[in-house]
Amino acid sequence: MSALRLDRLLGNLGYGSRKDIQKMASAGWIVFDGALLKDASQRIPLSPDLPQRLTVRGKPMDPPPGLALMMHKPLGVTCSHKESGELVYDLLPDRWRQRDPAISTVGRLDKETSGLLLLTDDGALLHRIIAPKSHVAKRYRATLARPLKGDEAAVFAAGGLLLEGDDKPLLPAELEVLSPTEALLTLHEGRYHQVRRMFAAIGNHVDALHRDRIGGLDLPDDLPPGEWRIMGEADLAAVFG
Ligand code: URA
Repeated sequence: MSALRLDRLLGNLGYGSRKDIQKMASAGWIVFDGALLKDASQRIPLSPDLPQRLTVRGKPMDPPPGLALMMHKPLGVTCSHKESGELVYDLLPDRWRQRDPAISTVGRLDKETSGLLLLTDDGALLHRIIAPKSHVAKRYRATLARPLKGDEAAVFAAGGLLLEGDDKPLLPAELEVLSPTEALLTLHEGRYHQVRRMFAAIGNHVDALHRDRIGGLDLPDDLPPGEWRIMGEADLAAVFG
């Protein structure tokens, strides 16, 4: 098991500078395995149960690196670290903005798309989810401006559709019609505004868009818009399952 100095560990989680952490330790704010930890240079073993063993001012320390989250992205917030307006990162605790490695979204949803969004500080995990060879499908529920004509599922399933501005045709995608103006579309790639552009290419228009599944992981019914939770092993396995 690897270990990290307390000042480095908490510093990387945004608790402050080395000096700040030493001050916090000297003030008796840090408890490890039930004992006061006064020396910030002490090395802490990085066990998975660390947040249960180390408290800062009586609260479990923030989750150490290797973090994966699922969020119910609400409408109107942007998947970006630097654009103006409300950002998905604003929905996380303030201190988490200072984390190193930083937390990033796994791919993006448009500002006006809601639904399941994954975030992680683990670059290898991020690439594993978005790499085409991982075959992690994404499912969207689209509400359309005009009734479906009936041939859309076959057109999307055939693949080969060329979207405006793209030089590579689309992979096959599955459309399940729910009502004349509502359908589930499952994609096996992730291009810019893909769902909206696919429906535009066949003469329709997406009025509302919501992602309800990534791989085999469904957006939980009890996760309301704007809320998030830490993913466990089972959630991660479901993404790839
Ligand atoms: N396709 C879109 O058009 N928008 C999204 O946010 C995701 C997929």
